[in-house]
Amino acid sequence: MSGVNEIRSTFLDYFARHGHQVVDSSPLVPRNDPTLMFTNAGMVQFKNVFTGIEKRPYSRAATSQKCVRAGGKHNDLDNVGYTARHHTFFEMLGNFSFGDYFKENAIEFAWNLITREFELPVEKLLVTVYHEDDEAFDLWRRIAGLPESKIIRIPTSDNFWQMGDTGPCGPCSEIFYDHGPHIWGGPPGSAEADGDRFIEIWNLVFMQFEQLAGGERISLPRPSIDTGMGLERISAVLQGTHDNYEIDLMRALTGAVADLTNVDANGPQKASHRVIADHLRAATFLVADGVLPSNEGRGYVLRRIMRRAMRHAQLLGARDPLMHRLVPVLVREMGRAYPEIVRAESLVAETLRLEETRFRKTLERGLSILEGESEGLAAGAKFSGDTAFKLYDTYGFPLDLTEDALRARGIEVDRPSFDAAMERQRAEARASWAGSGEAATDTVWFGVREEVGATEFLGYSAERAEGAVTALVANGARVDAIPAGGRGLAVFNQTPFYGESGGQTGDTGTLIGEDGLVVRVLDTQKKLGDVFVHEVEVESGRLAIGTAVVLEVDGARRGAIRANHSATHLLHEALRRVLGDHVAQKGSLVAPDRLRFDFSHPKPVEEGELRAVEDLANRMVLRNEPVVTRLMAVDEAIESGARALFGEKYGEEVRVVSMGTDPGNGSPYSVELCGGTHVARTGDIGLVTLLGESAVGAGVRRLEAMTGEAARHHLNAASRALQETAAVLRAPVGEVEARVAQLVEERRRLERELGEARRRLAMGGGEATEEAARTVGSVKLLARQVAGIELKDLKSLVDEGKKRIGSGVVAIVAVNEEGKAGLVVGVTADLAGRYDAVALVRVGAEALGGKGGGGRPDMAQAGGPDGERAPAALAAIESALAAI
Ligand code: ALA
Repeated sequence: MSGVNEIRSTFLDYFARHGHQVVDSSPLVPRNDPTLMFTNAGMVQFKNVFTGIEKRPYSRAATSQKCVRAGGKHNDLDNVGYTARHHTFFEMLGNFSFGDYFKENAIEFAWNLITREFELPVEKLLVTVYHEDDEAFDLWRRIAGLPESKIIRIPTSDNFWQMGDTGPCGPCSEIFYDHGPHIWGGPPGSAEADGDRFIEIWNLVFMQFEQLAGGERISLPRPSIDTGMGLERISAVLQGTHDNYEIDLMRALTGAVADLTNVDANGPQKASHRVIADHLRAATFLVADGVLPSNEGRGYVLRRIMRRAMRHAQLLGARDPLMHRLVPVLVREMGRAYPEIVRAESLVAETLRLEETRFRKTLERGLSILEGESEGLAAGAKFSGDTAFKLYDTYGFPLDLTEDALRARGIEVDRPSFDAAMERQRAEARASWAGSGEAATDTVWFGVREEVGATEFLGYSAERAEGAVTALVANGARVDAIPAGGRGLAVFNQTPFYGESGGQTGDTGTLIGEDGLVVRVLDTQKKLGDVFVHEVEVESGRLAIGTAVVLEVDGARRGAIRANHSATHLLHEALRRVLGDHVAQKGSLVAPDRLRFDFSHPKPVEEGELRAVEDLANRMVLRNEPVVTRLMAVDEAIESGARALFGEKYGEEVRVVSMGTDPGNGSPYSVELCGGTHVARTGDIGLVTLLGESAVGAGVRRLEAMTGEAARHHLNAASRALQETAAVLRAPVGEVEARVAQLVEERRRLERELGEARRRLAMGGGEATEEAARTVGSVKLLARQVAGIELKDLKSLVDEGKKRIGSGVVAIVAVNEEGKAGLVVGVTADLAGRYDAVALVRVGAEALGGKGGGGRPDMAQAGGPDGERAPAALAAIESALAAI
């Protein structure tokens, strides 16, 4: 008898020997399908290889694929634990041919593996074929030598396999194992087929068609093969049981539950052990693949799975969180085959512990309400839908948890009244929305939100994903389609595009679809917190509701945004360390080309402080440490010291981003609540360079910076400019500063000397020119016309004139290159009261065609457009003096 791990490798080795490429399992969150919630079959990762869109370097492959069936189309959640074969998580072994071999080899490979390698007795095997598939019927007879009675023709969809509503499909043939007459059940197609005696162990799909959305079915380029064998089922057969939970792997898990709870794994409460074992696997693999518990989409399915297991842990009497203590056991059992769970072990354990700690708080209250309300109910009775809703809404009890809790007593929840309560709450929310003063244009999003729900954001781990259009808005109203050349707003069921929030700019990129559909995404915004709205421009084709598209974020731009966002966190912490604890974030902008960070600080940041901040941030970059994101309850996150933005509204759960290590105490360097996208390691930031610091308001400063390529280009440009300057100066780069300072100083000195020389020239040479002054009436007048002297220098010239004549009036008129005149009149102090410079300058100004003039009685100035009338102006002043 082999263990699960050997059975898995026997399968893969066998197909490797027969020319198959062994391919790793793809992630549980499909990267290539717009509507699938989780990967639910081995062929999902090869969907586009079957249809011919994608080429791979091999035409035969074999995998052991992680699958989850919980939520969406295949939902096994409610049955898990109570039946022999239901799982939320399972492994599917499969071999694939992409236009290589077809039915004959597929049947041959399968038959030889199970009868020769696995040594299953032939008499225990029987098969089914699609009722019209004579070829398969004949092959089974010839290759396996099965009698006709053991080749059963099935006319129903059971033997026609389809991935989903669309996608590759074809008739199939299934191999069954007979567990023997001691177990109830009949062969496939019989009335007792549902029993546990005849169990399907392997499905061979003869992929021939592709189902299109419109209902049309077209042929694949070449007939192909897709097979699926549940590892748990074949292991059960090989280990002599019909119960999947009795295989070695599951027993290791249920046994660990028994050890931790002291409750027998095979006793009356065995369903709880099984629920926990199954859900532990689903939760671990989902978290390892990037899903974290939340209240929407995949995260909510994960939460329901976790909480269902946690309630069973509580039913087994566990007083403290249990699930996380089981993670090492699972990693020991499955970590070799799936190294991703080894890498994620601590994240998984921590996520489970936090979820269980929080859930326990509400579980007890919720359960006591549930018990109180259901006390008088007998088997077959209905449990109040209103109470079930209250449990859901107030106590975080998923409906299936309530149903599960009541199930053992034969009580069902009154679903119609539950749904009515849910609808009432929506109506109330709508009403309060209408009155909340939001812009009318936003009300359209309220309808969208209610109808299509929150958008699932895939952009933390992907920049490319498929999605289906769920809502379109053009000119403020809902529309069914946007034609080529049109613009509008589009919502998808899921998207890798980041919607602007938390300072981080929205993503741009492209959408590609069938029939030549090409759409540009110009921006992405978030409405009502979780509806991602893409601003689109349809280049060609038609974007309609339901259209499946590949959404591709502009990766280079996103990469730059990521680096800038992570750098913002490093700068925030560096500022706090350099300037003090009073530094708090007041706003930020994270764009592709730069970042801006506003923070509280009462005065300008000094040059030395800026350098220290930049150095600290770059030191963290060079240490190249991982950036870790965890999901936590807000209060826990803040208690643990994560920096939050005051006044920001956070959901019940928050992402906590930590980066770097504090060299002093080894704890994380920066920890912030943040929903943005970040680099994987600080080294990915490349380089941080500060552009400057400025004031934004009272007590708020702004830092601007660049990272990565942009920073490098910026610094390069600066360095080039410096080199060019050095070349002009004919000096080494190191001496540029001193040389420029010297030049500036020299220039100042020359300007001074030049001004001096001009003044002297204007006043008629070096000597005091008493003669230049005439006596007009009883007063001395020094009147001159000068050129090449600026108006601002005239006053000092007049002062100088006053000094020279000792007592009298000085009038100097300067004409500039444009022919305009400036006039300054000065009166020495001893003549104050007798002569008024203002009155005199006005007389001159009039002659120059100017108006007014002003100043003080001892010094006044004026100007005028008619420079050639300068002599006349001086003459007018002289006449005026004579008349006094
Ligand atoms: N894709 C087939 C299945 O899931 C093999 O059963």
